[in-house]
Amino acid sequence: MKKLRIGIAGLGTVAQGVLHLIKNNGNLMSDRTGIELVVQRIASRSARPDVDLLGAAFSTDVHDLVADPEVDVVLELIGGEGLAKELIESALAANKPVVTANKAVVAAHGDQLLAGGNVPLRFEAAVAGAIPIIQSLSQGLAANRINAIYGIINGTCNYMLTVMEEEGLAFNEVLAQAQALGYAEADPAFDIDGIDAAHKLTILAALGFATSYDFSALYIEGITQIAAEDIQYAKELGFKIKHLGIAAHTPAGLETRVHPALVPSSALLASVNGVMNAVQVMSDGAGETLFSGPGAGGAATASAVLADVLALGSLVAAHTSDALGQSQDKPAVDTGPAIRRVAMDDIPSACYLRIPTVDRPGVFAQVASALSAHSISIEAVIQKEQPSADASVSIVIMTNVVVESVLNAALSELSALDTVVGDITRIRVAPTH
Ligand SMILES: NC(=O)c1ccc[n+]([C@@H]2O[C@H](COP(=O)([O-])OP(=O)(O)OC[C@H]3O[C@@H](n4cnc5c(N)ncnc54)[C@H](OP(=O)(O)O)[C@@H]3O)[C@@H](O)[C@H]2O)c1
Repeated sequence: MKKLRIGIAGLGTVAQGVLHLIKNNGNLMSDRTGIELVVQRIASRSARPDVDLLGAAFSTDVHDLVADPEVDVVLELIGGEGLAKELIESALAANKPVVTANKAVVAAHGDQLLAGGNVPLRFEAAVAGAIPIIQSLSQGLAANRINAIYGIINGTCNYMLTVMEEEGLAFNEVLAQAQALGYAEADPAFDIDGIDAAHKLTILAALGFATSYDFSALYIEGITQIAAEDIQYAKELGFKIKHLGIAAHTPAGLETRVHPALVPSSALLASVNGVMNAVQVMSDGAGETLFSGPGAGGAATASAVLADVLALGSLVAAHTSDALGQSQDKPAVDTGPAIRRVAMDDIPSACYLRIPTVDRPGVFAQVASALSAHSISIEAVIQKEQPSADASVSIVIMTNVVVESVLNAALSELSALDTVVGDITRIRVAPTH
């Protein structure tokens, strides 16, 4: 039996999940792996006398974890970018492997943090909670050329879209409900504006396509423009609306984008509901694989954190404890040559449009002709007889596959029509690769 002495930064949801899982399943983990996990030290801003620290020393300065010679591995579970990055860097510099659940820091600084050399930095918990997608991309599917990755990777968005569909509630009502249930933060912007999903997609794209961690290269759109009626119209047209992260290799280059998308009701991803996450990977050898599971929560995230810790622990068994920091074992694929990223303007998609117009004869013909002037054809239409409360009617259109910049030009023209009386909602149809 080899001992692995861990130091934990933070004592919040995930850190407590880690302590709980070690307490309950520590023996099982030892039996399975031959590694005994010892929580050596915990450092967090505030003491939590109510939490069982499993005998660990406690202090409030996270740098104590690096300074303590008895700590073999540092778990960064404080979140944020500033101090978290500093802690990861100093631990790696001190030859201590790091496990983090922090997608923001990996998405923004992954290249720099992973470039350092041979000390492992692992981040299974940073994407899709309990789902072992990092390990799957870097090891399980390592023999494959990845064609595309589609992810439902934000539980808040998926929960909200699911409830809007099932209960027909408005966006703000569902948001309040999600906040009351703890599925959305008091400040929900990070989730509903798509930033959190974009952090995760940055990581998936870097691993799947051996490219850089380039958050700034992503196109990002959240779900705030989605109305309950869009979900109902989409259903009539045979689709569900999901907030998707898409990384796809196309002849034009690598597409990396996060936005709501119409997914055929019969597709695997369409059945992933509530706070569940899922990542679908299309690759040349393995074909279509779908990974799904809880994307957040203390216990689920702790499961992924400890998977990383135990993987590091097996290196202790293979080497001496001193050699741990020198290991070549890294979860990330080495960054290869830069792949050309496709600009959003150049990406082709079929689109759903909901156009609020005055209720007057001839308006549909006007809309159709504005689209046709840009060579956009109409594949399906829903036009409701009943005007809504503000006396407008919605014209719902499915377009053919059209390049983003062309559709944007057509939408500005449509918006300028005096018969169009509100914001046009555009939702892209998920591609198939
Ligand atoms: N929660 C999830 O379901 C989940 C899922 C996947 C990934 N993650 C990631 O896991 C990480 C931790 O998330 P969490 O939900 O556990 O967060 P949390 O509940 O807010 O816990 C963060 C902990 O870090 C401490 N902390 C914050 N700033 C500190 C500082 N400057 N110095 C010392 N301690 C500090 C906090 O202290 P106080 O108690 O004083 O605030 C708290 O104990 C984040 O990167 C998050 O994105 C979370």
